[in-house]
Amino acid sequence: MILEKQAPIAIFDSGVGGLSVLIEVRKILPYEKIIYLADKKRHPFGTRSKNEIEKITDEIINFLISKNAKLIIIACNTASTVKLDDLRAKYNVPIIGMIDIEVISKYINEFTGNSVGLIGTSATVNSKAYDDIIKKLNTDIKLYSKDCSKLVPLVETGKIESDSFKEALNNCLSPLLSDGITNLIIGCTHFSFIIERIKDLLGNNVNVFNPPRFVAHYVKEKLSHEGLLNNSREIYEPEYLVTSKRDEFINTGHKMTSLDLKNVKLIKLYGF
Ligand code: DGL
Repeated sequence: MILEKQAPIAIFDSGVGGLSVLIEVRKILPYEKIIYLADKKRHPFGTRSKNEIEKITDEIINFLISKNAKLIIIACNTASTVKLDDLRAKYNVPIIGMIDIEVISKYINEFTGNSVGLIGTSATVNSKAYDDIIKKLNTDIKLYSKDCSKLVPLVETGKIESDSFKEALNNCLSPLLSDGITNLIIGCTHFSFIIERIKDLLGNNVNVFNPPRFVAHYVKEKLSHEGLLNNSREIYEPEYLVTSKRDEFINTGHKMTSLDLKNVKLIKLYGF
């Protein structure tokens, strides 16, 4: 398969979370075509089994390759727990994940002290995928991970003003403050939209790291290294594909990002 410069970058998540990555990619790569896939039919991924997550990830990557993607971004930490090396060995397209040594290397040296908190889904926390990479990069870092799966469907449906959301967010962050963390990794792309609230609750002594920006920088480096940057100077509207709840995607996506989501198609993914 020959990858073409004019071909799209594909980005996927279980829902709106990966839009936090799309925004960062568009900031530094404004001339790239983008296909964004939200597999809302199988949302949330984070409470699924390892097998299910592997199967879903594989199916989506195959689909995006059939759409001629020149690079795939797994804009979902949960799906990024699938071993990237295995995926890269299997597919002939560059694949970049949220839990990627190249991405984590971009911010690990900015930590203040060695106590680092991580908030993510149950699958992300239980996989220990962050722990494994961080250990490879710096053995002094102590990682405190917190399963915050409860927040995901509330963000996905835009219910972030509710009392149950406030309570769930507090329950998620308080134990990490008691652990004395001085850094926090936003280990779920859905949580990037509530970063200001997270910072307010954590106070000034905790540095918050939001991976989407670092992912976008790595994407740019990778495309440039592979000679795959689109050299046209046209700006394209991304194409959005959703497997269910199209209106909810448009409304929550707009609420979280202020993006005007045009060009949104409902698709059937399974057995494509
Ligand atoms: N946005 C996702 C993540 O980064 C997925 C959340 C979910 O579907 O549970 O993990």
